[in-house]
Amino acid sequence: MGVRHFLTLSDLTTTELYAVINRAIELKAMHYRGEIHEPLKNRVLGMIFEKSSTRTRVSFEAGMSQLGGSSIFLSPRDTQLGRGEPIEDTARVLSRMVDIIMIRTFAHSGIELFAQYSKVPVINALTDDYHPCQVLADLQTYIEQRGDIKGKTVAWVGDGNNMCRSYINAAKQFGFKMRIACPAGYEPKARFMEGAEDLIFLTNDAREAVKGADLVATDVWASMGQEQEQEQRVKVFAPYQVSPALMDHANKDAVFMHCLPAHRGEEVSHDMLDDPRSIVWDEAENRLHVQKALMEFLMAQARQ
Ligand code: CP
Ligand code: NVA
Repeated sequence: MGVRHFLTLSDLTTTELYAVINRAIELKAMHYRGEIHEPLKNRVLGMIFEKSSTRTRVSFEAGMSQLGGSSIFLSPRDTQLGRGEPIEDTARVLSRMVDIIMIRTFAHSGIELFAQYSKVPVINALTDDYHPCQVLADLQTYIEQRGDIKGKTVAWVGDGNNMCRSYINAAKQFGFKMRIACPAGYEPKARFMEGAEDLIFLTNDAREAVKGADLVATDVWASMGQEQEQEQRVKVFAPYQVSPALMDHANKDAVFMHCLPAHRGEEVSHDMLDDPRSIVWDEAENRLHVQKALMEFLMAQARQ
């Protein structure tokens, strides 16, 4: 098999996704026990960031170092990519020098083009369309705290953005239902729901979406690259704030997740992240463990 990439959750089979999550849970336990596990010794991760990041950068960099390898942070400000060197050329050159590459960028077609020309695995660390690493961490977190997510119901409240679209991919792979509440015009486009129509209930009413939900998730109202729409979006999205009162309409043992960074007073009330149903800090931590498992998986595939 040729080199495997992780551009969306659909790049791995359901069995492989479960394997990565179970391995993440195992790696987390090993890490807590202080065990040294360095299967990627002398391996190098290239990290291309065209957008800001706290969690993604630190979790990939710390994760690669814990696995025995090292990483190189690359930003368009100081690489030739930022001065117009074609993506194809950058992919061909970098993939002759490093063993695995993660990219955070704008257009999803950019990462697809990069992967096409890369000899080594490419991981999507967020594009305008998807954020699969975050949803992988969310799934690990749900499974750790509540058991299998198959047959459960996830409520997505707010913008039908990259996170929402990766959740839709996950619904297909893991067999859970989604209740999505977005303001009119901000729903995920039909092409992102293809094949998941039977699993999705769309509404404009946040309360209706969380009814019967086992997991409630939201995200910022204006994603990176939409800063100029922020003011307008704050008005349109006001009825979609997730608060403990909204959570009361979900199932009794429902949990709340947010990929972070959060804007208190906008998509979440000031007290939501501190509510006992919020598991956002565990969710953030799991980026570290699940991406270690993912890198281990992709590198093992690359050696086959
Ligand atoms: N959730 C997430 O991807 O966070 P960063 O933007 O800080 O990487
Ligand atoms: N939807 C957000 C996620 C940030 C981690 C964005 O794309 O900016």
